[in-house]
Amino acid sequence: MKILFLLLFLFLIDYYFFLGTISVFSKNTYAHNFYKYFFWILSIFVYFSITYLIFSSRNIEDYNFNNNNIIFSTIFFIFFGAKAIGSFPLILDDIFRFFKITINLFSKSNLDLSRLVFLKKSALFISATVVSSMLLGIKFGRFNFKKYYSNIFIKNWNYDYKIIHISDLHLGSFKSKDKLRKLVSLINNENADLLLFTGDLVNNHYKEVIPFKSILKDLKAKDGKFSVLGNHDYGDYTGLKRSSKEWKDNFNNMIKVQEEIGFDLLLNESRLIDKDQFKFNLVGVENWGAGNFNKDGDIDLAMKNVDDSLPTILLSHDPSHWRSVILKSKYKIDLQLSGHTHGLQFGVELKGFKWSPVRLRYKEWAGLYSSSKKQIYVNRGVGHLGYAGRIGIMPDISVLKIKNGTT
Ligand SMILES: [Fe+2]
Ligand SMILES: [Fe+2]
Repeated sequence: MKILFLLLFLFLIDYYFFLGTISVFSKNTYAHNFYKYFFWILSIFVYFSITYLIFSSRNIEDYNFNNNNIIFSTIFFIFFGAKAIGSFPLILDDIFRFFKITINLFSKSNLDLSRLVFLKKSALFISATVVSSMLLGIKFGRFNFKKYYSNIFIKNWNYDYKIIHISDLHLGSFKSKDKLRKLVSLINNENADLLLFTGDLVNNHYKEVIPFKSILKDLKAKDGKFSVLGNHDYGDYTGLKRSSKEWKDNFNNMIKVQEEIGFDLLLNESRLIDKDQFKFNLVGVENWGAGNFNKDGDIDLAMKNVDDSLPTILLSHDPSHWRSVILKSKYKIDLQLSGHTHGLQFGVELKGFKWSPVRLRYKEWAGLYSSSKKQIYVNRGVGHLGYAGRIGIMPDISVLKIKNGTT
């Protein structure tokens, strides 16, 4: 039933966009007919894509590496996105028309109610720009790994220490073993002290890791590799109930596969990292996200065995955990590392300036932030979800140099 409502909603947006733009082309011309058929064939393909995706994500037992889910979800995001964003000039036009109707009614004047040609053409131009940019983002953004370097200062940190922080691999969308090998080699070339992964290893199912297991095993760091779970690692988006055997099997296998690729998965627990007698706490919580996201993260449990005279780094997938819980807590957590936002895979990032629509939802969405002597660093994600590309916000390998100092 929900799917029918979704399809009806998509159809209404399509129909609104179609009615608003078709009159750009004169009737009974080749361009008019071509636009009409092209528009609706494409729309039917989008409806098929979204229906296929909904059913295939629920059928987790038959997960297959060679599935085309990422292609279908990308088609959906490109064409639906183009029409939704392109509708803004038409909405603006309808607001003008509403005022004209009101004036005609009350003043008995006769203002022209037809759409403004300029706004109709703007709708088509914006949609074409969205489609072109998104196609370029697939070709030039999807695997364009970028190293983001940051110096982070922590009090009583008496060692120059290099951490590689990555997040959101989303292996179900990643598809390319060669690109993953390239990523592993870029990380290993840094010869880091520690490798930290802040969750969303998969989209839905532990089997997404299997084809990539031997490559991920090659990731190296002197003092080890540690990880936490992201909201996608629980299998909750498959529609399975947490009490079901299938859900539990998937979750247990998810934990097991992290061990098989050499990651020490921190489930509301901590480790003491001892580097030539320089010590610090590494704490990891399960996913905790504001709003509708699951709240399995338990900072009280995770901090139970922590020596708070030592510096502390926390791994927590969702950055909203920092503002909602960590900043208000009594715990001396010097630095939280998070991911989850992907920087929306879309935005602008120039020297000293960064912007993405995702900042409307997450105040801390990319890079370093601080407040009340606590800091958070948010990785932009190294994989992708939904749309198989990136525009302006590149796949992120964060190279964090931790030094002694105050914020
Ligand atoms: Fe993610
Ligand atoms: Fe996430």
